[in-house]
Amino acid sequence: MKANLTLDKYAPISKVDPRVYGSFIEHLGRAVYDGIYQPDHPNADEDGFNKNVIDLVKELNVPIVRYPGGNFVSGFNWEDSVGPKENRPRRLDLAWRSIETNQFGLHEFEKWAKKANTNTMMAVNMGTRGIDAARHLVEYCNFPKGTAYSDWRRQNGAEEPFNIKTWCVGNEMNGPWQIGHKTATEYGRAANETSKAMKLVDESIETVVCGSSAPDMPTFGSWESTVLDEAYDNVDYLSLHRYYGNQENDTANYLAKGKDLDDFISGVIAICDSIKARKHSNKQINLSLDEWNVWYHSNDADAKNKPWQIAPHLLEDIYNFEDALLVGSLLITILKHADRVKIACLAQLVNVIAPIMTDEDGNAWKQSIFFPFMQVSNYGRGTVLTPIQKAASYSSKDFENIPYLDSIAILNDEENTVTIFALNRSLEDGMKLHINAGDFEFNTVKEATQFAGYGMKQTNEDGKMKIAKNDKFDLTQKELDITLAPASWNMVRISLK
Ligand code: AHR
Repeated sequence: MKANLTLDKYAPISKVDPRVYGSFIEHLGRAVYDGIYQPDHPNADEDGFNKNVIDLVKELNVPIVRYPGGNFVSGFNWEDSVGPKENRPRRLDLAWRSIETNQFGLHEFEKWAKKANTNTMMAVNMGTRGIDAARHLVEYCNFPKGTAYSDWRRQNGAEEPFNIKTWCVGNEMNGPWQIGHKTATEYGRAANETSKAMKLVDESIETVVCGSSAPDMPTFGSWESTVLDEAYDNVDYLSLHRYYGNQENDTANYLAKGKDLDDFISGVIAICDSIKARKHSNKQINLSLDEWNVWYHSNDADAKNKPWQIAPHLLEDIYNFEDALLVGSLLITILKHADRVKIACLAQLVNVIAPIMTDEDGNAWKQSIFFPFMQVSNYGRGTVLTPIQKAASYSSKDFENIPYLDSIAILNDEENTVTIFALNRSLEDGMKLHINAGDFEFNTVKEATQFAGYGMKQTNEDGKMKIAKNDKFDLTQKELDITLAPASWNMVRISLK
């Protein structure tokens, strides 16, 4: 099979906001306890953080991590998680029906984030709480000193403010499962006033208002319109969440699901812009896809979970090769919308629907989805070029005209390179991809890699999966011909003249 990709130097989509390579740590299952925090373990550092996990998080190069939830945050009192550990209360976590010991809290997370080279995206509780707790939390985190909450932070050991810049005003408030679930009007009003008060404490922060937890929610569309009608002037981003599964065991259809994400994102952009027009506003609301991933492998096991455990095994999806291919495609989809999607969080980071897992011995290992995420996060930085591609397409159960080639090119001006990420969706055929330099001039191929040759259901529990070299290419100043294996994830980094 043949396909073409032409690089267009003059019509970039946008610069990539590095925050699209964000992730998420929720107090859920073994994400925190037995995940990033294992104080009794030989792999733990002086703060009780698992050093193997920190190394892998650094390898992923995650610039921002959303915390502390998720559904958890809608019943969370942040004050429980600060101060001397022996005074912190054990609470019922109603979202995941677990016991929360609060032995890991706000200060521990900030310390961990520093060590993992990342920043915090903090979520506030809009379920059981609201404006008052949120404004106090901003004061605690960001106000220098001389007030009740800022001085309480200092007493608790953090002289300098945490300076958290990105804040979620609640989590999935559209969902009936959410503690304190609200109608769009109730939430929109509360979010507007809460965000306003948070920004009065620190005008440098940006806030994300809750959109829909999935496009198939009955309120999708009307929820966004109503919430933005209420909160447009006081928020900066609208969230969207999306998870995928291959319950029907139809790989061709599964690998086409990037189209669903593409449609979801386009729909949300259209809604944001319709409210902008209706309000005669000059302000643009951008998108925060602050939960996305594959999530379905663990559903049956989770249904049998016994409530009220500490750090139970929950949402522990073991990912296979086809999941990694889809994750690659979802990353390409996010980059295609780099002009409007400014934040995206792979949900989640450790043990809970995660690229990194820990075992009982505290060893950390990479899931299949680790590999495409690591490549795009490290090399997908710069300016996204508009994809001009020609490829045969196929139709599947839910989608029509899905090109076998899914690709994106990113120009890195500082390094003078173009990086191309490409998925060959064909399960049977290799692909001869012809890349036309357009008005660029190619110099050398710095690196060409492929993630290929694995069975669709193969997992990486034995640690043997790896990214391999692809040396099947020919380069001239104006063209690159490269062969992509069937069902493969590919990256080519080309230095330019
Ligand atoms: O990421 C797992 C859960 O999925 C989050 O807690 C919630 O926001 C979503 O429904």
